[in-house]
Amino acid sequence: MGLTITLKVNGAPVTREVAPQTLLSDFVREGLRLTGTHIGCDTSQCGACTVHLNGRAVKSCTMLAVQAQGSEVLTIEGLAAENGQLHPMQEAFRQCHGLQCGFCTPGMVMSAVELVQQCPDASEQQIRERLDGNFCRCTGYQNIVKAVQQGAEAMR
Ligand code: FES
Ligand code: FES
Repeated sequence: MGLTITLKVNGAPVTREVAPQTLLSDFVREGLRLTGTHIGCDTSQCGACTVHLNGRAVKSCTMLAVQAQGSEVLTIEGLAAENGQLHPMQEAFRQCHGLQCGFCTPGMVMSAVELVQQCPDASEQQIRERLDGNFCRCTGYQNIVKAVQQGAEAMR
């Protein structure tokens, strides 16, 4: 039997029936077709599924969709402006070649945005430490850190 949840996703109200065991990551991808949120492990390790829940970065495979009842969820699709202009952190990843295959990128960007919101002057060391829950299988960390530094400057 399904449960009805109501929440906001990328600013828009959403009401859906979900099975109680549905993960938030599956709800976002399959229920809402927002497939920019990736699933790399499903076991809370890789960070590819990171979204913002009430302004905090969370790994969406670690929680149930029903736990997001009444919350505001922001996914990578909601980060750019409505006119399509990229968020400064997305633009920085683009300019600094902070992605290779792109699989980790949505989660990296969502984590990076939260990092800069909480710690606008993060040092390189702090950026590396704060992003240690996001894995890049292409091992492109050097340019990812550069991108976060440039994105932080643009967001300040
Ligand atoms: Fe959620 Fe890897 S898919 S942490
Ligand atoms: Fe390929 Fe990070 S760019 S996993």
